[in-house]
Amino acid sequence: MNIAASLNDGFQVTKLRKGFLQAFGSNGEGPTRFFFAPGRVNLIGEHTDYTGGFVLPAALTNGTWAAVRERDDRTVNLASHGFLPQVVCALEQEIVNRPEDGWANYPKGIIKEFLDHGVDIPGFDIFFYGDIPNGAGLSSSASLELVTAVALNALTQAGLDMITLIRLAQHVENSFVGVNCGIMDQFAVGMGQKAAALLLNCATLAYRHIPLILGEYRLVITNSNKQRDLGESKYNKRRRECEEGFRIIKGYRPELTCLGELGLAEWLSVKEHLSSPLPTARIEHVVRENARVLASAKALENGDIRTFGQLMLESHESLRDLYEVTGPELDALYAAASQAPGCIGTRMTGAGFGGCTVSLIKQDRVFAFQQTVARDYQVRTGLRPSFYPVSVGDGAREVNEEELWRFS
Ligand code: GLA
Repeated sequence: MNIAASLNDGFQVTKLRKGFLQAFGSNGEGPTRFFFAPGRVNLIGEHTDYTGGFVLPAALTNGTWAAVRERDDRTVNLASHGFLPQVVCALEQEIVNRPEDGWANYPKGIIKEFLDHGVDIPGFDIFFYGDIPNGAGLSSSASLELVTAVALNALTQAGLDMITLIRLAQHVENSFVGVNCGIMDQFAVGMGQKAAALLLNCATLAYRHIPLILGEYRLVITNSNKQRDLGESKYNKRRRECEEGFRIIKGYRPELTCLGELGLAEWLSVKEHLSSPLPTARIEHVVRENARVLASAKALENGDIRTFGQLMLESHESLRDLYEVTGPELDALYAAASQAPGCIGTRMTGAGFGGCTVSLIKQDRVFAFQQTVARDYQVRTGLRPSFYPVSVGDGAREVNEEELWRFS
């Protein structure tokens, strides 16, 4: 049983410096500047971003660090702790996605975006170290994209604002990497704030930080340790189902520009025009999930953590029954967690089909929660979960040495 595995295993500074020197040699000096971009957990508002709806994610204190040293030969050298290969990117040549470059395609995509924006890049060595599990729905890829973007922005003095960096990172994901995601992940990673959730309207990008005062409760992420298989094709299928439903609705409500604008009362008045059960169930989820996001923001602002917990439970059930993106493992975690001592809210987080849940647990029951859920989950699925009690931190930025040590 992997009880209380901490995501942050410390020594980020040492790992960064050592890794950097091993990858690139000392060359008279080590890395000169450091950057950080968090992972994110979505608290509520799942599968709503790509319909122009509302989301309520938060940035984690875990994420991706980058150590950088400048060069002037129009070459970028990319290396990462724990991931191969090490990649050389010649800036005079066209930058393309090469499957054999694996993880490095994310930073390569960002470099290409900067060049396409007309930014001059003299060159640099960059070494990455991350402490969020990959493919678990905690946005390790958005974190890698944004840490590269803030580093490049600072090194080249391009002066791009954070919203531009966020849009550019989403563009990399959509066109360079080929994942058809919405904007939530990059936005949360870029604009997150310590001890706050981010209420975002994904159609207009209007946002507000909502104080996340958890009192005697803690946020605990549980990794189902189920790899997301076929996740992407099912994700794209859900997107298409929503688009199909919206096309029909627009016939009756031409003033709507996106599904996210459809309120509950309006939905109930047009629902009868959708004859097939599938888009109907998907849209029912989206409309009610949007309402839950707004109700959650209000509850948190009022310090009503129990109502927020209740909305998390409803969100998971809707994702399970109406949107059908949970799967047996996440449902087993939900069943175990929602019965566990001290748990007032739990739900899948991220795209689903495997990955993680996020739960609100009474501080003094966190250990008991982990024991009970691990046992129950293992009986139900044969898999062992991992637990990460997490904290909410600031978005992507340059960090100085003192701050680096504080992370460790
Ligand atoms: C993934 C995508 C996000 C969002 C979520 C589901 O994390 O990257 O854009 O669609 O799934 O809420």
